[in-house]
Amino acid sequence: MISRTICSVVFLSLAFGGTALAQTTDPVVLANSCSTCHGPDGKGLPNNPMPPINGRAAPAMATALKGFKADQPVVTIMNRLAKGYSDAEIDAIAAYFANIK
Ligand code: HEC
Repeated sequence: MISRTICSVVFLSLAFGGTALAQTTDPVVLANSCSTCHGPDGKGLPNNPMPPINGRAAPAMATALKGFKADQPVVTIMNRLAKGYSDAEIDAIAAYFANIK
């Protein structure tokens, strides 16, 4: 249990450079919901039109998700979905997928 906590702290420190840790929900948990459509680890699925979302630069990904949240652009699913996440959670999700090559 203790070592698990230490691992989480190390991971979060690496991923976020020590900023806003207290506000960030576990990005692994947040990202799991994305994998339903975008495939395991966001790598896409065969014969599935949903784009892979792994390995993208975190700032660009976060900007895209915050745009979806503000209905820019208007799309089919992501506008509704992105509204369910705070900006801090979006930053955490973007950093998580950026680190999956
Ligand atoms: C219910 C299925 C579904 C889920 C769950 C889902 N997405 Fe999407 N995503 C889509 C679809 C469909 C699109 C294409 C745009 C649209 O029509 O909404 C898309 C587009 C995107 C794009 C733009 C990709 C591009 O190349 O334009 C990003 C980034 C993205 N999703 C990230 C995420 C993240 C991060 C999550 C988890 C928080 C997530 N998605 C969860 C279905 C989903």
